[in-house]
Amino acid sequence: MEQERKTIGVLTSGGDAPGMNAVVRAVARSALSKEMRVVGIRHGFSGLLARDAMELDLRSVSEILHRGGTILYTSRCPAFYKEEGVRDGARACRELGLCGLVVIGGDGSLRGAKALFAQGVPCIGIPGTIDNDIACSEYTVGFDTAVNTVIELVDKLRDTSQSHDRCSLVEVMGRNSGDIALYAGIACGAVAILIPEIECSVDAVVAKMQRTLKMGKRHFIIILAEGVANRNGLGSASEIAVQIEARTGVETRTAVLGYVQRGGVPTARERILASVMGVHAVELLERGIGGRIVASVGNQIVDYDIAEALGRKREFNRHLYDLADMISI
Ligand code: F6P
Repeated sequence: MEQERKTIGVLTSGGDAPGMNAVVRAVARSALSKEMRVVGIRHGFSGLLARDAMELDLRSVSEILHRGGTILYTSRCPAFYKEEGVRDGARACRELGLCGLVVIGGDGSLRGAKALFAQGVPCIGIPGTIDNDIACSEYTVGFDTAVNTVIELVDKLRDTSQSHDRCSLVEVMGRNSGDIALYAGIACGAVAILIPEIECSVDAVVAKMQRTLKMGKRHFIIILAEGVANRNGLGSASEIAVQIEARTGVETRTAVLGYVQRGGVPTARERILASVMGVHAVELLERGIGGRIVASVGNQIVDYDIAEALGRKREFNRHLYDLADMISI
């Protein structure tokens, strides 16, 4: 008698991130190669509650490897923060005949996967967020592309900043995580990087600018993570810019990069990370294992217990921050 084919689901949730499509493709193609059926759940957990599923075959994931956004669409789903919502999600998985679900998203989405697992659904989480703020993984899908997008834009700002002897204050994404600001700040030679992990003040920025002005520096890039503006009395990016200009005498302009950081063609590194993470998730489900998060550690793909991993505190790379401060002068 022919054995019944296992069905697995895949969804993208929370803020979209370049490389999510590459994960979806890798999940679908590897599951299909193992004779599993694959369904894509549209619009994240909201779509799961609405039982909004589509069959994924080999060709339905063609031509998406290089595309930003997510063909499955995404959403933030407040109903999933409540137990009743999660229970209904587990019911939906059973109705759809899923013996496993791959959830691609950031912290909130991975917590949704953890809650679903507690309701008996074998879930595997894949860190997909531009913020790079999942403690157990050195990199999340989307981060590398977002940093490269910021670099491209700041390089352009630098040209005009240099011509006019100005300061460009650039606000990048990251409510609770300064990684985009930190990595782009290093790569763009920012004289100051303001991030939520470190206590920041306008005084310190002004002092550094005054010091470097004396050393002959004439134009400046400052990178500010979204999460720092309006915190600790700092004010918005443009209010900070007004203070910097008044106190240093350097004409200061603000650029808030916004959602452009979430889109675009995923980098090579992103596509590879996404592909290996997607395949790893399917290998776990094939072995009947759920309740894990896939992570990238020291160039290896590993997996951790989802509850334990989400309980970890993220370590901030202070060394990188100090290094940036020393050489951007
Ligand atoms: O989590 C990714 C992210 O882009 C954050 O950097 C940002 O703070 C947030 O999402 C914005 O969320 P929304 O799409 O709900 O405006």
